[in-house]
Amino acid sequence: MQQHISLRSFNTFGIDVSAAAYTELHTPADLQTLIREGYTRTSHLFLGGGSNVLFTRDFDGLVLRNCLKGIHVVEEDAHTVLIEAAGGEVWHHLVMFTVERGWGGIENLSLIPGTVGAAPMQNIGAYGVELNQVFEELTAVHIQTGEQRTFNKQDCAFGYRESVFKKDLKGQYFIQSVRLRLQKQPQVHIAYGAIKDVLAQKHITLPRVQDVSEAVIAIRQSKLPDPRVLGNAGSFFKNPEIPEAQYHILKQSFPAIPGYPAAPGHIKVPAGWLIEQCGWKGKRVGNTGAHKDQALVLVNYGGATGAEILALAYAIQESVQQRFGITITPEVNII
Ligand code: EPU
Repeated sequence: MQQHISLRSFNTFGIDVSAAAYTELHTPADLQTLIREGYTRTSHLFLGGGSNVLFTRDFDGLVLRNCLKGIHVVEEDAHTVLIEAAGGEVWHHLVMFTVERGWGGIENLSLIPGTVGAAPMQNIGAYGVELNQVFEELTAVHIQTGEQRTFNKQDCAFGYRESVFKKDLKGQYFIQSVRLRLQKQPQVHIAYGAIKDVLAQKHITLPRVQDVSEAVIAIRQSKLPDPRVLGNAGSFFKNPEIPEAQYHILKQSFPAIPGYPAAPGHIKVPAGWLIEQCGWKGKRVGNTGAHKDQALVLVNYGGATGAEILALAYAIQESVQQRFGITITPEVNII
């Protein structure tokens, strides 16, 4: 247990706030000990890779970092393999573990920052694939009672960047391990435009899992800032889903407005486009800004406070509201 430590290296925005206390969980038994000793009954916060949080002030409690490691095969047959990974594993390491073996399912989710335990929280997704498509079950621990529970796909109530752990069970469970079912004779998902383009440039006609992973890595590296170089937490806002009728009205005033099928009767509009139209793309405000290649990603140019980034986010939200009448909501957890 460490006292008054800086969280700067534990959040990808690189915000320099401090935590009153900090500890790491390396085994499931560590968590049980902390629960028994009452630490989870006072102010606390579980942290994975810190890639989806914005700290706006010092945290006056205990930060518990999930450092549980391990990846293993649970069972396999001729067609599929069930793997289990501990919650503190780096997500991209898990992706590489599967890609190296030619197992398909999460190659489109290459290079997403963060940990395995955080992945189901927000049902991570990219380039046409979401975690729920390969998800089998997870083991979580109730942070007050220490009781272990298995959640299947239905229990998790996955949605677009949503799960039961962000809603009804928010703050109640610690995700200890996750099981995914992968394919040994995979069908790759390359419908997402940019993937097709990268593969075509490389003259790859029958892409393997490895090729798709490499294409995704190349796309991400070309568009998304590396948090080790420029502080950020990926997409700051979710892409809003608006009623079809509202979309058609907007289309009359803004013929170029992109839209993708979403929940029945709704259209998903890329928030990055809306933000760019409002003039924020590449714009710098003090030490913060909206990234030059992807307006949905807010960045810390160095030394920004969480409050400054939040102020920028509010200003962006307000201008999108004014111009389009659409409310965009943060995807990042604001603490
Ligand atoms: N666009 C712009 N200007 C911008 C950014 C985007 O006009 O500055 C428009 C373009 O029309 C583009 C469309 O938005 O065709 C979609 O852009 P992109 O493919 O970059 O995806 P996104 O909708 O902005 C989502 C995820 C990303 C994920 C990509 C790829 C959300 C909130 N974000 O972004 O996830 O990598 O798709 O699948 O759904 C993350 O969650 O942190 C994240 C990076």
